[in-house]
Parts: sequence; C-alpha cells; structure tokens
Amino acid sequence: MFKVKTYNQISVKGLERFPRADYEVGSNINHPDGILLRSHKLHNEALAETVLCVARAGAGVNNIPLEQYTQRGVVVFNTPGANANAVKELVLAGLLLGSRGVLTGIEYVQSLNHLKDAAEMSKLLEAEKKRFAGNELYGSTLGVVGLGAIGSMVAEMALALGMKVVGYDPALSVDAAWRLPNRVERMENLHSLLSRADYITLHVPALDATKDMINHDTLQSVKPGARLLNFARDAIVHTAAIVDSLESEQGLGMYICDFPEPRLMGRNDVVAMPHIGASTAEAEENCAVMAADQLMEFIQHGNIKNS
Ligand code: MLT
Repeated sequence: MFKVKTYNQISVKGLERFPRADYEVGSNINHPDGILLRSHKLHNEALAETVLCVARAGAGVNNIPLEQYTQRGVVVFNTPGANANAVKELVLAGLLLGSRGVLTGIEYVQSLNHLKDAAEMSKLLEAEKKRFAGNELYGSTLGVVGLGAIGSMVAEMALALGMKVVGYDPALSVDAAWRLPNRVERMENLHSLLSRADYITLHVPALDATKDMINHDTLQSVKPGARLLNFARDAIVHTAAIVDSLESEQGLGMYICDFPEPRLMGRNDVVAMPHIGASTAEAEENCAVMAADQLMEFIQHGNIKNS
C-alpha cells in the first residue's frame, strides 16, 4: 500500500485518481511515500524520512524548500501549463480594467444606490458618462515578460484582440524556438520591451534571477502612462519602485496585480485583488489531476513526468 499525505485545497478530481486498493490518501497519513499539496507552505523539518516526492498542484514552487529537498534526494514536481488558461483569462480582465473605466464606472453607479427615482439616476449617469471613457486595446502594444506556458498563451490572446505583442524571456535566448506566433516581436532585453509597451504583463517565476526585476532602474524605460500587470509573483517587483513610478509623470499609469499590500492601498492608480490567477474550478482540477498522476508515476514506476 502506498501512502500519500495531502493538504487542503486539493480538488477532489485529483484525489479520485488514486486507486483505493493501492493507495492510502489523506491529511493524517504518517510516514507517507509522497506529498500532494497546493498552496500549503512546507517547512524543511516537516518532511518525514519516508517521503520520496512532493507534487505541487500549481506552477510556482515557492512554498517548497526546493534546494533542501533536492539535496535529500526528494523529487519535486509542479504542473506547468495546467492552470495557464485560467491565468490568461485573468490577464484579459486585467487589461480591460486597465483600459476602460469599468471599476470607476461601477463605483459611481454604486454611489447612486440611495436614489429612488430612475429618471434622476439616468440623468446623472448620462451627464457623468464622459468621466469613464477609456481606450481600446486594439492597436496598442502588449509587452509579455516570460514566454513559458502562460506567457505564450497570453501573447496569442493579445494578438487575437488586435494588439501588437513584444516578448522577452530572461531564461531564453532571442533565437530560442519558442512556441510563439511569428507576429510576436522578440526583444533582446527588458529595457527594450518596457520602452515599447503600452501594457506590460509579467509571467516569470520567482527566482534569484528574477527577484525585483521590475525596479527603479528598469522602470526608467517605461512609456509614460503604461499599465503594468502582475499576476505572477510579488517578489519579481520592487513595490516601492512601482509606487515611485506611479507618482512620476514619466512613469507607470496603473498597476494591476493580485498581490495587495499596505503600500498599494487607497490609490486610484492601483487595482489589487487576491492571488486568484489560477482560481478556477477547471484549473484546480487540471492541476490536481496532473500532480496526482505525476506522483503515482514516480512512486510506482520511478518515472519523472513533469509536463
Ligand atoms: C501557481 O503558481 O500555480 C499560481 O500562481 C497559483 C497559486 O500559486 O495558487
């Protein structure tokens, strides 16, 4: 009998992958062969000697002490691509929040909820409509930083919206064979991408090499008023630099992210939401199923299947 310790948030579809005859699966398992988790933070000391592998139902592995586990011979899996579509669709929402007066318009309508007279309401709405005018995405330029599973899907979506797309990936040379449409113009470095983009969206993992990649220096290159979207990781941006850039006439016009923090609160040029890029029923299922399959393949057959 194989034993798998799980933490909450794992979709039931993933748990159903384990054949009952061969697997004991649950949160109270002692001496497990494998661990299956989503966002639970694992501490090095929490790992039993018996553990052969850890499977994360998600893309980022920041909640797992990778180096220490790898040194101990524990294999760590993630599920690249399994939630890419969900993140892509949140980027679409972010782009629209950045280009149209959606939030301010909704807020204004809510501020009228005391009115009882429909004619009065409609008169006010008509009079104020101009305040909520925005711009079309069509024809504007999106800079995609990070061209892995999520970044390339975002690039395709933006092209379908009629945007121009420029792309840069710190881990790939410009000549690398990305699975990208030809119409994505590949940039040599982050500065060139930032100097071209009206909208910038970040899709790199949090690594030493990407820590604070959006900082005072790189933000010098942005087009005045550019909108920055970050649904990737908070560690890749230097928040104080973003605030300074938003406050400069030459800097960013808006920051849209799913990493709220006190310094970003109360600003009308920041739209912050919980970390919900991968929070769809479909993505949670895809990730849980992929992680469960990887874990079983490794425990039973010693095969590493990480995509
Ligand atoms: C991921 O790394 O898969 C996403 O950011 C979602 C998450 O961490 O919950």
